[in-house]
Amino acid sequence: MNDKPWVVTVDGPAGAGKSTLARLLAAKLGYLYLDTGAMYRAVAWAALQRGIGPEDDEAVAKLLHDLEVSLVPGKDGRCRVQVDGKDVTAQLRSPEVTRTVPLFAQIPAVREALMGWQRSWGERGGVVVDGRDMGTHVFPWAQRKFFVTASPQERARRRFRQLRRQGFAVTFDQVLREVLERDHQDETRALAPLEAASDAIWVDTTGVKVQETIRRMWSYFPRHVPRGAVGGRRP
Ligand code: CDP
Repeated sequence: MNDKPWVVTVDGPAGAGKSTLARLLAAKLGYLYLDTGAMYRAVAWAALQRGIGPEDDEAVAKLLHDLEVSLVPGKDGRCRVQVDGKDVTAQLRSPEVTRTVPLFAQIPAVREALMGWQRSWGERGGVVVDGRDMGTHVFPWAQRKFFVTASPQERARRRFRQLRRQGFAVTFDQVLREVLERDHQDETRALAPLEAASDAIWVDTTGVKVQETIRRMWSYFPRHVPRGAVGGRRP
């Protein structure tokens, strides 16, 4: 039997609960959790810092070349993000970055650069990756694929609470509008749009407790799924 640890993908729209579920699954499996949205956010954040717009191909290409983004798995399983050696995790979820990120995420050079990096994390297996195109484009060969959804109202409610906790002055209506707008941008872009892989398992988290969803997802793994050994591997 092949006991190489698996690649598990968790895709879905904003606020569906991907990162919590992916992190908990990774902990159960002893795998690394890789937050690919954080990579796109890091690029958008760095571009904003430098005053680079998504329409400036040349400046974006130079930025990708110069930028050093590292994902550092924290003790709690969350991904910390460093840009040029500085921890910028807290700044990546600002409304400004959130609004700008889909514009950078639709640029072919950005997707290509990040895909190469994501694959280098996944090639030895033992990762749970969350994002928009993990099961469709980046890891079409993943052993398990989940597509996580929830109603737009519930997704906006979760995001609203998260942002308020983090101290951002936003209203529920504003968050709902932005969640819907971002879904639309992610679903309709030409390159690697947000969509479920044909072999993905659909998971609706509307009104369902996290532990219950995890139990359901876990039921799709065989008892002897190859376990990982978090910590030893970095690309
Ligand atoms: O956490 P949330 O669902 O709000 O978003 P995220 O996972 O941090 O991703 C932020 C944005 O990055 C998305 O809205 C997409 O535009 C982009 N993204 C992407 O294009 N492909 C991925 N694999 C992950 C994120």
